[in-house]
Amino acid sequence: MDKTCLRILSAVVIAMLMVGCGGEQEVPEPQQASAEDVEEALRAARADSVAMAQTQYNPAVFDTIAWSGGEDRFERGELVWSYSCATCHGTGGRGDGELAVQSDLSMPDFTVGGWAYAGDVPAIRHRVFIGHESEMPSWGLYGLPYRDVDAVAFYVNEVFRRAR
Ligand code: HEC
Repeated sequence: MDKTCLRILSAVVIAMLMVGCGGEQEVPEPQQASAEDVEEALRAARADSVAMAQTQYNPAVFDTIAWSGGEDRFERGELVWSYSCATCHGTGGRGDGELAVQSDLSMPDFTVGGWAYAGDVPAIRHRVFIGHESEMPSWGLYGLPYRDVDAVAFYVNEVFRRAR
């Protein structure tokens, strides 16, 4: 085989290789997680947070908290409520806060009968600290101090126990 012939042959082989490489390649579709999968994963993550908050919860701390009076405790609670809670629960406790409406959360209505923790401040403090796997944040993990947990639980009970 002379040199020209060899060159032509190798050019043909290279051209064939290039065609081969440039051929259609199967690109797999990215796996699309279903909305249910995402919701389930988020719920599981929140359940983990609740469990973690539960291990950190120490109700004895509340015994060390002193208020100069009920008014102090109430006012502090009202402030915490307006900053941290009303965005979901609504200023009036109906569960119609902006974030809850936007995210279509299923919220309890504190103004109707049958509200689970009415009259039970320790139970409210516990729920606020550990949260709930539905959408209620684990406030203890987010650094809401025990004093503020106590104040807001007092406030919620004072306002919404009466509203029943
Ligand atoms: C991101 C939205 C959101 C925020 C912010 C929020 N909550 Fe909730 N909360 C919920 C949801 C959803 C539930 C219902 C969960 C359940 O079944 O207990 C709930 C339940 C509760 C309950 C139990 C009531 C019941 O009948 O089950 C209490 C008490 C409560 N929240 C107090 C608070 C307080 C106090 C704050 C502020 C420190 C707060 N929440 C902030 C979403 C929120």
